[in-house]
Amino acid sequence: MDVKDYIRTIPDYPKPGILFRDVTTLLSDARGFRKAVDALVQLHVGDAIDLVAGIEARGFILGGAVAHQLGKGFVPVRKKGKLPWETISQEYELEYGTDKVEIHKDAVFDGARVLLVDDLIATGGTAEAAVKLIGRAGGNVLGASFVIELPDLGGRSRLEAYDIEVLSLCSFE
Ligand code: PRP
Ligand code: HPA
Repeated sequence: MDVKDYIRTIPDYPKPGILFRDVTTLLSDARGFRKAVDALVQLHVGDAIDLVAGIEARGFILGGAVAHQLGKGFVPVRKKGKLPWETISQEYELEYGTDKVEIHKDAVFDGARVLLVDDLIATGGTAEAAVKLIGRAGGNVLGASFVIELPDLGGRSRLEAYDIEVLSLCSFE
């Protein structure tokens, strides 16, 4: 089976008309999880990166495993109000309203080369906010890798505008 075959599609979640791509079925399958993590790691073995950053919540599971395999530290990009020390915060747009992601002020050192990992890129709004945050903290996101890309929603070009290499293991049109 390919990585894509482990992903479940839920119709009408969270709203009518949406096809929700659910990675929990990939994560709970030992082969599926290993396949996805190994594939993400293979994309970046030997890359000149210092840190892996993952976006809450599913980016923690995948990004943590990728960081471990690459022998790098992991930086959590959290939803607002979850981090205990001083944070910097970046707003991003949701379909209705806005939300915020945060990192600790000292989460990345000056000039750190960062690989961003998440389960899925749709509009790219969340990943772009993470890129801005890491930039404001003094780091530089060089690559952003995802298990799933929804190409119709345009996230790739949003990140490529920052000169970031965007990679994904599979796409759902
Ligand atoms: C999902 C997904 C990405 C983001 C992608 O997370 O895991 O982080 O949305 O969407 P975008 O490219 O349009 O920004 P969600 O906001 O559902 O948060 P969760 O993982 O905490 O459930
Ligand atoms: N699955 C998971 N997260 C998402 C999706 C999806 O289909 N679309 C936007 N964020």
